[in-house]
Amino acid sequence: MRKPFPYALQLPAFCAPMFLVSGPDLVAAACDAGVIGAYPAPNCRTTTELDAWTADIAQRTAGSRAPWALNLITHSTYGRLKDELEIVARHKPPIVITALGSPKPVINTVRAYGGLVFADVVSIKLAKKAVESGVDGLVCVAAGAGGHTGRLSPFAFISAVREFFDGFVVIGGGIADGAGIAGALAAGADLVYMGTRFLAARESLAQQPFKDMVVACGPDDLVISAAVTGTLASWLRPSLIACGFDPDAPALAERNYSVENPAKKWRDMWSAGQGLQKVTAIEPVATIVDRLACELADAVARFQRSVSPTGIRVRDAATA
Ligand SMILES: Cc1cc2nc3c(=O)[nH]c(=O)nc-3n(C[C@H](O)[C@H](O)[C@H](O)COP(=O)(O)O)c2cc1C
Repeated sequence: MRKPFPYALQLPAFCAPMFLVSGPDLVAAACDAGVIGAYPAPNCRTTTELDAWTADIAQRTAGSRAPWALNLITHSTYGRLKDELEIVARHKPPIVITALGSPKPVINTVRAYGGLVFADVVSIKLAKKAVESGVDGLVCVAAGAGGHTGRLSPFAFISAVREFFDGFVVIGGGIADGAGIAGALAAGADLVYMGTRFLAARESLAQQPFKDMVVACGPDDLVISAAVTGTLASWLRPSLIACGFDPDAPALAERNYSVENPAKKWRDMWSAGQGLQKVTAIEPVATIVDRLACELADAVARFQRSVSPTGIRVRDAATA
């Protein structure tokens, strides 16, 4: 029997952590609207700034409908983890999401105050390692995701993970409407991880031209390449061109773009996922979440009609 998620949310979703995009306004608006608002620690240049952001977010979301989450890099080469764990112990994020390393170093600190630890993973191998560390949840980043994308189909990913894990499963990658959320839940996930859908939110820190490009582009405008950061990621083609690169030039395929160009990855080269099609305007988070909730209700009703045209519940039909 799987444990129910301990928070009653408006939508079973995270507003996923995004570098240079997720700040206190986006996190607080997400939590107020009833989805989990998350931000990555590297969005703050110093741990002093992170401490201030975190205190602000904890205070602003104290009466919110959904909890907030802090995303930490746990790779051994990341020098700030010790200081960031002190900030975690002080402000007690209800959920800590680890990325780019083992979740082990954070588990005791977060468990000590009753928080949940989720590990961001892009493969079954990494998912198994995270489960062995004792995490409460997995964030499975599948193909179609913005940022550093996964390669697996979300359906294959959830199905494989459910073979060995009955904790909380979050799935991300190209989910940008209520039908996608319904599909993820039907496939066995507890929650979804949505970044791209909130990129152009009014409260996001993304620069205006980035938001405009997100609204103007669709999934065909993405370049999936390891050339920018050394790791597979999903980039907006027009932003690469604006930085002077030809994304189709074979010679560039394996080069690190930033080596020969002053343009900064993430700041000038913009990332998004395949859910772009659903972002058609710059809107407040609350409007986006309300629309997603209506779409989810429609999708559930449609699903029930399509699997049960005579009105008999599926379980009744299967066990009759
Ligand atoms: C612009 C951008 C920046 C991102 N930065 C981070 C980050 O700093 N840390 C992280 O764990 N994930 C990051 N992500 C990935 C998201 O947290 C999430 O996995 C992804 O957006 C989900 O897929 P979707 O964009 O298709 O919804 C980023 C995504 C985008 C679009």
